[in-house]
Amino acid sequence: MSSSFFDTMPRVISHRGACGHAPENTLASFKAAADLGAKSIEIDGMVTADNQVVICHDSSVNRCTNGQGAVLLKTLEEVRALDAGSKFDPKFEGEKIPTLQELIDALVEFNMSVNFEIKPTAGWQVETTLKIIEDLNKSLPDTVPLLFSSFNIEALEVAYKHAPEIERGYLTEAVPVDWERRLKAVGAASLHCHHSFATTELIKAVQDAGIRFLVYTVNNPEDGKRLLDWGVDAIITDYPDRMFEFV
Ligand code: G3P
Ligand code: MG
Repeated sequence: MSSSFFDTMPRVISHRGACGHAPENTLASFKAAADLGAKSIEIDGMVTADNQVVICHDSSVNRCTNGQGAVLLKTLEEVRALDAGSKFDPKFEGEKIPTLQELIDALVEFNMSVNFEIKPTAGWQVETTLKIIEDLNKSLPDTVPLLFSSFNIEALEVAYKHAPEIERGYLTEAVPVDWERRLKAVGAASLHCHHSFATTELIKAVQDAGIRFLVYTVNNPEDGKRLLDWGVDAIITDYPDRMFEFV
């Protein structure tokens, strides 16, 4: 079992690797985060047609690669043949959509913890979550702190049921009025909202309930400073280098 994510959680978590500096969710991005001094990264994961976990944000490869189509309709071999670097910058040509094992190797090499966002293709939430749990249980060393998060309630429910020992973050844009009930239903230890919906009152109420309050995606240093001053537990940012001076 992984150690508690929150025991070592820094107040700056680097988003999709460090996707302000390198193509999101690639090995180059994980390395960029480490090189910048990040101690924790957020990444997104889903499965392919042949049920292999890959690190990717969108359900299709269109935006980030030179290919077209749904990840869930491609085999791992087909996904791996794509260039996931050039669209960000030609100098990253040849970057690939990483496998789970490549992510794990990077986390170990760079000594970073991970907020693994379960990003299922709609309709594939159960299969996606079960496979991610199975592979992480098999391959993630105990020394790598892990936090699951998801916008998808079914993914959180499945994670709660099948891997209750892995902490869960409830992802949302705005904070629902009945956040406490919703978080309790999936045993969430943290609430992650879009930073524009954070208020000092909400932060206090959530923390008073014993829940960590995280905000994404904070790229403006003034916002970062204000939110950290307000006492959020962590900010998730594409540019960790802009935020370190405030923690
Ligand atoms: O986990 C924070 C953030 O990654 C959630 O939104 O769409 O960037 O995955 P998204
Ligand atoms: Mg994400």
